[in-house]
Amino acid sequence: MSLVIPNQTLITSTLKDLVVVLTGGAQGVGRSVVEQLHVAGAKVIFGDVDDNLAQQVISSLTTTNTTGKVHFVHCDISSYPDQLSLFQTAYNYYQRIDIVIANAAVSLSRDPFAPASLTDEAILTAPTMAEVDINLKGVLYTARLGYHYLRKNSESEHRGDLVLVSSIAGFKECEGLVSYTASKHGVIGVMRGLALQAAKEGVKVNTVCPWMTRTRMVKGIEQGWYDLNLPSNGPADVAQAILICSTANRSSSSSQQHQGAVLPFSGKILWVGGGKSYEIEDRLQSLEPEWLGYENSEILKRGQEYLHSAGTSWDNK
Ligand SMILES: NC(=O)c1ccc[n+]([C@@H]2O[C@H](COP(=O)([O-])OP(=O)(O)OC[C@H]3O[C@@H](n4cnc5c(N)ncnc54)[C@H](O)[C@@H]3O)[C@@H](O)[C@H]2O)c1
Repeated sequence: MSLVIPNQTLITSTLKDLVVVLTGGAQGVGRSVVEQLHVAGAKVIFGDVDDNLAQQVISSLTTTNTTGKVHFVHCDISSYPDQLSLFQTAYNYYQRIDIVIANAAVSLSRDPFAPASLTDEAILTAPTMAEVDINLKGVLYTARLGYHYLRKNSESEHRGDLVLVSSIAGFKECEGLVSYTASKHGVIGVMRGLALQAAKEGVKVNTVCPWMTRTRMVKGIEQGWYDLNLPSNGPADVAQAILICSTANRSSSSSQQHQGAVLPFSGKILWVGGGKSYEIEDRLQSLEPEWLGYENSEILKRGQEYLHSAGTSWDNK
């Protein structure tokens, strides 16, 4: 694990006038990202299902004295037409998109695996799959559309950034949150499935995994957490991790970098705990021989090299 400390100069100097599409910007982490992007002078188009709160964000920002621009598009991320419209609106406004942030998600309090949901009567009804539809299917839609629009940017080493928001539930056991945990593991899967291919085209895909963050999502466990004096993040801390991912590859000089960020910043996971960001994927990969076994790791490497070589195809027809 490696502590990554955001370089504010890099953030403010690179985000000005960049076009950013974000999902779930009406409150919590997403709102903080919108506010920080706005201060940095970015052009933000965000989608959300909560029109009232979204309008409050717009109103609060239009009264602040910054150069950034912000637009809201009603968008349920589990709907492909909604997301298409979000991206098309952004592209029509500015004829380019530089950064895409897949942030929106839900956590439902009714776990379909809880004993109360497993009675002979309850089992007759299919459980809601809203967490999978929103948190995983929705993120796959964002990733696909985002990748498409970022690839339109002129061919260069860095065409754009796709930042996915997963969770501590993306890599740890989470009792009582079965569908949420499955969906958030899936978000890391989206990154691992796409990052190598995208990096070859200059699009960098990274993931942020927040631990306990003080938003409405954690209302149910908040008090006990504080009673135990456990560390937590403010929404602004997670927003900073998202901005680290959005700017790490944009520095024009090696002296101006986020401290601790190893470049190219691609396929990384920033875990955010106690207000700080830590990169965890590099060590997970480099320690593979220890947890998978040296021989297994060596032979796996050969298989991976074959699968990733040019011309290899999964098409079985
Ligand atoms: N708060 C935490 O402790 C915590 C921990 C780990 C991960 N996360 C992740 O951080 C991200 C932000 O969460 P948050 O804590 O700010 O939550 P939040 O509930 O405060 O904000 C989520 C936003 O997403 C929007 N949204 C919900 N469903 C949507 C849909 N179908 N389409 C579009 N927008 C939708 C909501 O209206 C809201 O504005 C999520 O991906 C969440 O899973 C949060």
